[in-house]
Amino acid sequence: YQKLKKFPKNFLWGAASAAYQIEGAFDEDGKGPSIWDTFSKIPGKTFNGTNGDIAVDHYHRYKEDVRLMSEMGLKAYRFSIAWSRIIPDGDGEINSEGLKFYDNLINELIRYHIEPIVTLYHWDIPQALQDKYNGWESRKNIQAFKKYCQTVFKAFGDRVKYWVTFNEQNVFTAMGYRWASHPPNISDVKRMYAANHIVNLANAEAINLFHQMVPQGKIGPSFGYGPTYPITADPNDVLAADNADDFNNNWWLDVYCRGTYPALVMNHLKDLGIAPEVTLDDKKLLKSAKPDFLGINYYHGGTFQQNQIEHPDKTSQHEKDFSKTDPYLMQPKDTQAQTPEMAMFNNVENPYLHKTQWGWEIDSVGFRITLRRVYEKYQLPIMVTENGLGAHDKLEGNNEVNDQYRIDYLQTHITEMQRALTDGVDLLGYCAWSFTDLLSWLNGYKKRYGFVYVDRDDNGPKNLTRIPKKSFYWYRDFIQKNS
Ligand code: BG6
Repeated sequence: YQKLKKFPKNFLWGAASAAYQIEGAFDEDGKGPSIWDTFSKIPGKTFNGTNGDIAVDHYHRYKEDVRLMSEMGLKAYRFSIAWSRIIPDGDGEINSEGLKFYDNLINELIRYHIEPIVTLYHWDIPQALQDKYNGWESRKNIQAFKKYCQTVFKAFGDRVKYWVTFNEQNVFTAMGYRWASHPPNISDVKRMYAANHIVNLANAEAINLFHQMVPQGKIGPSFGYGPTYPITADPNDVLAADNADDFNNNWWLDVYCRGTYPALVMNHLKDLGIAPEVTLDDKKLLKSAKPDFLGINYYHGGTFQQNQIEHPDKTSQHEKDFSKTDPYLMQPKDTQAQTPEMAMFNNVENPYLHKTQWGWEIDSVGFRITLRRVYEKYQLPIMVTENGLGAHDKLEGNNEVNDQYRIDYLQTHITEMQRALTDGVDLLGYCAWSFTDLLSWLNGYKKRYGFVYVDRDDNGPKNLTRIPKKSFYWYRDFIQKNS
């Protein structure tokens, strides 16, 4: 029995979203196209051809959404800025109408005493930069990113204290450059590692620039972390889980927090001839940038065993996920496909865990393990920037959505977070994913995460009415009791 520590009074109880998944207005008020605007229109890439052209129309309904946030008692709201609204062609003219939208949103949040947490990059690079420079494969993109950062730091740094640089760099590089499940639709592991290095440099530049321009603010990346477990106590399985930890987590976290790549992975990549080129200046830059906090997105981890080439198709009894791989595991769902990592770790089912309707393991204890491992290793305050349950929700005849399963999910995860807090982890806040229902990138609108139901489906926007779910009222009461 352990007496649980109380959450601090100023703990940021929040919810999160991302521009492409909610805003819509994809070509309004001077916005340029992003790589997601282009990719989602390639036939067969997303479920039913769904895209974010209208999404849940947050661009036009932000006032209503913020009012609902205040009714729920949110202390913080995490959202991302669409780079191509601010600089439509990526590194040219600044679009004042784009700035105006976020200026209004931020002011509206502040009016209701909701702390804005701004993500600079949630996967939607301007298409023009992809076309001109090959996007994140070119160092020119770093300069473009710096210009964009400078613009928004200058515009909003006086009111926005918390900033996230990159959302889930591990996911967007793997999905975009290795599995061709996301834009830019490339399947080349060497190019993935090269692009990933460029993003690391951009991350470091953004952090250093921020510290010069907004000294009173806090900035850090948000990482999609999955704890790794060995399937048995066989030391070979333990080693496999350690290898997976290095490839799936430390490869990014060590760079963010220590400014160095883990030797094991780097050596392995060099042997395979797929290591990124890292110059002396790059090393200096990576060392110089110090995040103020680490954002952690937590959904699930993975269980590993020593190399065995066969592994079962794990999605069979679940809803088909449109991606070709599980983004957090670095291994394909296709049983035939081989990867260089397979000699070092092999992902297997965890017999102790249940799964969501989309086959994601539900592992609340893994959340506590995550927070402890990350905090013990890097000693940086942690902001939970995402955690939540994607499910089919049903709107009942009386306009109610009884999502008790989501309440159970959030409740158990928050309890484990409180245990981690009691263990000594320094936590700044918790942003549930997501505030309203939104576009689930590849899985359309049927995979819902929100506290607020949005009346639209995969066939069209319907009337986009907002309907608070049962979890909305649960979170409202929970926040009230805990702050
Ligand atoms: C995270 C992303 O990977 O997981 C979100 O940051 C995303 O943008 C969320 O929506 C859930 O993933 P999915 O594929 O279920 O929508």
